[in-house]
Amino acid sequence: TKVFSGTSNRKLAEKICHRLELPLGEVAISSHSSGEIHVSYQESIRNCDVFIVQALSHPINEKLVELLVLIDAAKRGSARTINLVIPYYGYARQERKSAPREPISAKMVADILTTVGSNRIITIDLHADPIEGFFKIPVDHLTALGLIIKYLKTKNIENPVVVSPDAGRATTAEQLALLLNCPFAIMIKNRPEHNKAEITHIIGDVAGMTPIIIEDLIDTGGTIVNVVNTLKNNGAKDAYVCATHAVFSDNAMDRLDHPNIKEVVVTDTIEWLDAPDRFVELSTSDL
Ligand code: R5P
Repeated sequence: TKVFSGTSNRKLAEKICHRLELPLGEVAISSHSSGEIHVSYQESIRNCDVFIVQALSHPINEKLVELLVLIDAAKRGSARTINLVIPYYGYARQERKSAPREPISAKMVADILTTVGSNRIITIDLHADPIEGFFKIPVDHLTALGLIIKYLKTKNIENPVVVSPDAGRATTAEQLALLLNCPFAIMIKNRPEHNKAEITHIIGDVAGMTPIIIEDLIDTGGTIVNVVNTLKNNGAKDAYVCATHAVFSDNAMDRLDHPNIKEVVVTDTIEWLDAPDRFVELSTSDL
């Protein structure tokens, strides 16, 4: 078994190797002035089970092509199996057509990864479960929910209510509420355009309670800020915000440094920069 890392989350790859007591494999990655990416494994991978760690995070198109050339090079280097550890699977929010003449990009990316030559995918908290079925190869779909629950239990939160920011996260919210033995509420979200979110309704009681908002990912932070403001207007206390993937684009961190957010609890599926005190990082390397 040999583990290699692309450039998107070397920190996590190192933690995984530390946990497995394996050295992180050597692979040279560079790009030509034209932007073309070049990779070269610096050690033999013949007959090896190769694991490539690469999050499909920002800049996603570059990270995706980097992963593709890593797969191709591993195939041509006679690896026995090629296993992709994709802690964050980007393009997952385009998992269905929401309007005519749109692509289903999550399926297209699955097709490309499989066609180029991978044998197995290990990933965490896909935006939508059915994406697992977009692959013709085995997918180990892990969840960070256990890590989040373990952390929340250390906080002894008074009068908690789990909040789903939209209908899509309702089942996860219900699951979390069951495990924390507390009620849950669901927000109804409308997106008038990309990167704009508005909350239209709340289903459930939140007044006087401490919200635990659960998300799969935080991108611009717009959804979370809207949810937090709506909760405040409905008499809730300051909120805990929990999400697996810290996409954090477009000054999301500044947006989330919000007076009504007690803590932002995210994981290391995506490498993110140092943040204010209210940000907490849980490691998925044990998973
Ligand atoms: C949407 O369905 C996702 O679960 C997230 O709610 C959303 O993509 C977060 O995006 P943003 O942080 O930009 O509002």
